[in-house]
Parts: sequence; structure tokens; C-alpha cells
Amino acid sequence: MSVILIKNNKGGVGKSWITLQLAHGLQHVSDKKVLIVTSDNQNNILEYAGKDKVVSDSGLEKWIKTGTGDLIRLRKNLFFIPLKTSHLNLQSKDKLERLFEAFKEEYGYILIDSTPVVGIDKYFVDLADKVVIPGFADKVTINSITSLLEQTEVRKVKSIIINKWTKTAKEKKYYHGLKEVLEPYEILLTAPIAQSAMIGKLIDDGKTIWESNSKKVKEIQENFVGVIEAIL
Ligand SMILES: Nc1ncnc2c1ncn2[C@@H]1O[C@H](COP(=O)(O)OP(=O)(O)OP(=O)(O)O)[C@@H](O)[C@H]1O
Ligand SMILES: [Mg+2]
Repeated sequence: MSVILIKNNKGGVGKSWITLQLAHGLQHVSDKKVLIVTSDNQNNILEYAGKDKVVSDSGLEKWIKTGTGDLIRLRKNLFFIPLKTSHLNLQSKDKLERLFEAFKEEYGYILIDSTPVVGIDKYFVDLADKVVIPGFADKVTINSITSLLEQTEVRKVKSIIINKWTKTAKEKKYYHGLKEVLEPYEILLTAPIAQSAMIGKLIDDGKTIWESNSKKVKEIQENFVGVIEAIL
């Protein structure tokens, strides 16, 4: 059982898409039940999994209050709990902790697609056993990754995934800079994942990378296999 937080305070780096790919991959590899929880009421996971984006009032908010609520089946043994409101109102950390204890009884892996919600974010960081950080190879993102490494318990950080790579000289510079920063740590820095039309097409079709036989997608699968091994 582990709780994996996919985190970067920067927007649009691929947190939600990567969360879904990791969750589906972990389900395949482990054959355990996997749950995705989000602290982002965009609920993009649904779109990326090819599901309708209808979110009732019984999302994570209700789960926290009552211990039950909506559970959307994305794939075999892969489930998602959406979030309705942008402001998760938590009276106490205890309720969230208790809920996660119950989830851990039921699921082999719980992934959190997080967005930095003031006040709540820290709870999720505390709840997580493992953290995966997606980002771009640019100055702002590398700085935010570096500060995340300073704020988060570094031992929790298992992998950094550079996404939407366009192969520029600048990106290469920042990628290698990051590699140096990571040298003292046991953190997997994956080969960069390209900004690709093919990924865009998969997303449009509501498919994950594990549902494609294309040779190019196979290369991306290999990146994710590395991350999954770092998590397991
Ligand atoms: N490697 C890629 N190639 C092409 N498109 C991508 C790639 N990775 C992500 N995308 C697209 O980029 C956009 C942002 O991705 P995603 O929603 O996963 O980011 P996010 O970090 O969760 O964003 P937010 O901060 O809004 O939650 C989406 O439209 C997604 O389909
Ligand atoms: Mg997102």
C-alpha cells in the first residue's frame, strides 16, 4: 500500500495526464486495485481517461464528511474520486487521515493528482509516502523543483519527469543542470518526454499510453516503467 503524490506548484506541466498513466501502469504491473484522488476540481483525469466530465455533489468532499461518495470506474480495477468545489473545506486533518486509512485497506495504490490548494496542500504532502514531480526543463520549473526538494522530505521524492520536451538547447542546458542538482539524491530523472502530437491524439481519443501499440508510444511506456519501478 502506498500513497503517491504527483506534485508541482506549476500549472500545465502534465500532472494530471502523468497521474493517469502512472495509475494505469501500476494497476497493470501490480494487478492491485488503484485509486486516483484529486485536489483539483478541473477533474481532468476524466477527460484523459475518455470519460464524461459530470461531477455530482458527492465527490471527495462527501467522502471526507461521510466516508462514502462517488467512485468513478476508469478502467478495470482503476477508480477515480472527483472534486466538486475549488475550496476543499477541511475542519480537521483527522478526517482526511481516517479516510486515507480506509482507502489503504481497499487499494494497493492511491495516487493524488494535486494542485496547490492553500491549507490543504500540506495535508496531502504529509499523507504521501512517495512523491513524483513532473516539470518542464526551463528556468522557472527547475527553480520550483529545487525549492520543492528543499521543502519536501527528499526521501519521499522518487522521480522527476521532464515533460513536453521540445529538444531546444536551452532545455538541454536545464536538464543537465537538474541532473547535477540531483546527483546526491536517489531520485530517478527520466529521459525527457516529448511534447508530441501523438500524445495529444491519445489524449483526444481518451486512451492511456498502455492502450497503444505504436512504436513511439512504446518508448514513452519505457519512461513510465522506470518511474513505476522507482515507486514499487
Ligand atoms: N507530452 C505531452 N505531449 C503533448 N501534450 C501533452 C503532454 N503532456 C501533457 N499534455 C497536454 O498538456 C495539457 C496539460 O496537461 P495536464 O492537464 O496533465 O497538466 P497539469 O499539470 O495537470 O495542469 P493543471 O496545472 O492545469 O492541473 C493537457 O492538454 C495535456 O493533454
Ligand atoms: Mg491537472
